[in-house]
Amino acid sequence: MTNAAPIPTASPEQPAPAGIALTLQHHLQEQARFCDRLETMADRLPDAIDERDCLLMAQNVVPLIKRAHDFEERIVYPLLLSLPDTSEDLKSSIERLKFEHLGDEEFAGDLGASLRQFVTNRGATNVESLAWMLRGFFESVRRHIAFEREHILPLVQRHSS
Ligand SMILES: [Fe+2]
Repeated sequence: MTNAAPIPTASPEQPAPAGIALTLQHHLQEQARFCDRLETMADRLPDAIDERDCLLMAQNVVPLIKRAHDFEERIVYPLLLSLPDTSEDLKSSIERLKFEHLGDEEFAGDLGASLRQFVTNRGATNVESLAWMLRGFFESVRRHIAFEREHILPLVQRHSS
């Protein structure tokens, strides 16, 4: 055996087929937990906020959302679109989900900046609009992941095991 050939390994980028459903489930859970934390934060505004927690959320919101979207767009949706029996309904749902990803990523960027500003320059923050922003974001992400849990995950489970 030469030492030139790389050893193939399963990775988050290219999981084994049976791991696709599990990885998708993991991303959906991670986003759901994040939404719960954002809701708690919205409920505690403005005075009962843990600033360190707020900064962590500001740092994590974009990477967490992008990680999930990237996995779905590179692995999950192509898998479903490659099935011979993919319906037109599913195709248009996937288009809509990808479109929602774009909106939520932009929203995540704005939310991260606002959370950071809340900690670093609270006087310049409109607390009501931050609360509105938090709720708008987690409600949108929750709707999106509820659809994926109900319609996308079962399909992936059926076709990737
Ligand atoms: Fe998604």
